Amino acid sequence: MARIKVLDKYFEPCIANDKIQQRVAELGTAISKDYEGLNPLFLGILNGSFIFASDLFRNISVPAEISFIKLVSYKGTTSTGNVITSIGLEEQVTGRHIIITEDIIDTGKTLSSFLPQLMSQQPASVKIACFLSKPTARQFDVQPDYCGFAIPDDFVVGYGLDYDGFGRNYPDLYVLCSPQ
Ligand code: IMP
Ligand code: MG
Repeated sequence: MARIKVLDKYFEPCIANDKIQQRVAELGTAISKDYEGLNPLFLGILNGSFIFASDLFRNISVPAEISFIKLVSYKGTTSTGNVITSIGLEEQVTGRHIIITEDIIDTGKTLSSFLPQLMSQQPASVKIACFLSKPTARQFDVQPDYCGFAIPDDFVVGYGLDYDGFGRNYPDLYVLCSPQ
């Protein structure tokens, strides 16, 4: 695999798609085993999770539903800082077993803001499945229950992840590298 250019930056291959598919299948098998008879509702966080969520969902072998929400963060609108609002959470989550599906957990800020909103609707349980996690970047106490790969605190694109909106379409994962 060769390096790629996304907008003004260069990225080099990091995790190949066949390795990603293998790991996502393992996660699907583990989740299917844990959620037997529970009819879980997968909640994909847009935009980044759409590819991971669709691959993961196709590896789920128990009855399950999937829906997507978009989280929008507003800066400086309140004294407490960012407010994150969910758009499109139409499904009834009360009493349901929820599996939040995220592309990457970085600082943990996004999910730590959203989780209380979700919990206020009294789901039966909430777990987090993420494609990637950057454990050393964590600033908020959010831990994934199912994680594809733990990676260093480096910027990555591909498999749904973007740099300024671009790069999501690459099947493999790439990491930022020095220009030349
Ligand atoms: P957090 O709220 O800091 O955990 O950030 C989560 C969000 O930041 C993810 O859903 C991504 O949209 C974005 N993000 C964090 N790290 C990366 C990266 O390396 N590449 C692309 N997007 C990233
Ligand atoms: Mg995102």
